[in-house]
Amino acid sequence: MSNSKYQLRCISCGHITDNFSVWFDQNQLCPKCGSKHSEIEYHTDYSSLSELLKEKNPKSFWHYFDYLPLYNRDNIISCEEGSIPLERWLFFEDYAKQHCHIDCNIYIYRNDLNGGTNTFKDIAASMAASLFKENNINQYCIASTGNTATAYGKYLSLAGVNAAIFMPVDSEKTSQSEIASYGQQVYCVDGDYARAKQVAADYAKKFEILISSGNIDPIRIESKRTMVFEWLRMLGKMPDVYIQAISGGTGPLAIDKAIRELSPHLSDIHLPKMLMIQTNKCNPMVQAWEKAKAQNFPDGYEKDYPILDNPQTEISILATGNPATYPLIAKLVRKSKGNFISVEEEKTIDVARLIAYEKKIHIGPASAVCVLGLIKAIQTGEIKDGQTVLVNIGEGIKRAPNFLQRLGYNIKQVPSIENCRIPDMNQAKKELWEGMVGD
Ligand SMILES: Cc1ncc(COP(=O)(O)O)c(C=O)c1O
Ligand SMILES: [Zn+2]
Repeated sequence: MSNSKYQLRCISCGHITDNFSVWFDQNQLCPKCGSKHSEIEYHTDYSSLSELLKEKNPKSFWHYFDYLPLYNRDNIISCEEGSIPLERWLFFEDYAKQHCHIDCNIYIYRNDLNGGTNTFKDIAASMAASLFKENNINQYCIASTGNTATAYGKYLSLAGVNAAIFMPVDSEKTSQSEIASYGQQVYCVDGDYARAKQVAADYAKKFEILISSGNIDPIRIESKRTMVFEWLRMLGKMPDVYIQAISGGTGPLAIDKAIRELSPHLSDIHLPKMLMIQTNKCNPMVQAWEKAKAQNFPDGYEKDYPILDNPQTEISILATGNPATYPLIAKLVRKSKGNFISVEEEKTIDVARLIAYEKKIHIGPASAVCVLGLIKAIQTGEIKDGQTVLVNIGEGIKRAPNFLQRLGYNIKQVPSIENCRIPDMNQAKKELWEGMVGD
């Protein structure tokens, strides 16, 4: 086994860990300063990356194997994830043009089409499962609001790795069942996500089992940063604006990592303006940001954030009441001249209906939050003329079957023909748009 492909560098003290084998032996901590936060650096020559970016049809994010921290391709556990389309959704471009006089290109990154569990957690789970296989790890644990849980549940099963998965009691029951159906152990913890994380940490300590180190976990960051590789492959440039529903923030952290890594090797690569979306029922990052903005970002503003106990949101995937990564994300959003935006949770059904009407696809509730963010960004002038916007929708409907049930509207129980009228789809269209954005 070569050990020259990559290394991990501690963000705090610069200590170098040779590879994941050593990193796992160190319990995923820097042996010098104790920090959990190390970042991967590659010894691979970046000149061959441009060849990879010419490929038309990669099968998965493993297309970038040379820039991923795995030595042996035989250890790859994949369900064809991370090679998903960027689709232009012209109806939103038309809306921006007609109602707000903004001429922009809007691309939707279709994470609902990922092969594993139809969410943007599949790439991280594929990376993790492959690394565990390569390093003979057969026990792991993780806390998650649902999508990471399901993805890790499936991919770790494929790798023959036992997983103890800790979820808040209010997480989707179908996700819990799906994970358990693979043979994995689900622990539904009484309490919110913060509590589930705590019990998972206690479990890891008690049984000396590796646990995901959260949103800064180099396994998750490394895999997710290939999103940037993919956008460059498909768009030929970075988007100007990036929109995502935020929970812990692995997405933006991974994008930033990719840009810092690639900018010495590729020209004209920049951080997009980051618009981070939360529902009004659980928006601690938005609250912290609004306060900091009103005070003109005083020193240490990033450390001042509220902690919401048991946030009362129906969108369990985004129910992170204790935004422990806010200090990192806030700085990043500021660097990108971006914003945190709150949207009305009540509108998630309407926007999902609109997408079903316009595109004939079903997005999950966390994706609906993201799309609401797009609409608000258009309306509030966050998006400017000529800009390219990338909207990262994170999940398909499979993750939340109850949400699909709530999308029906033209459903009428009828005793006889007397109660039937000839339908008109255009009427539905008019009502859907009015309900979403006004007349
Ligand atoms: C569908 C969906 N959208 C958004 C998020 C938030 O992701 P991040 O970890 O980047 O905050 C998640 C993850 O929890 C998710 O599953
Ligand atoms: Zn260190």
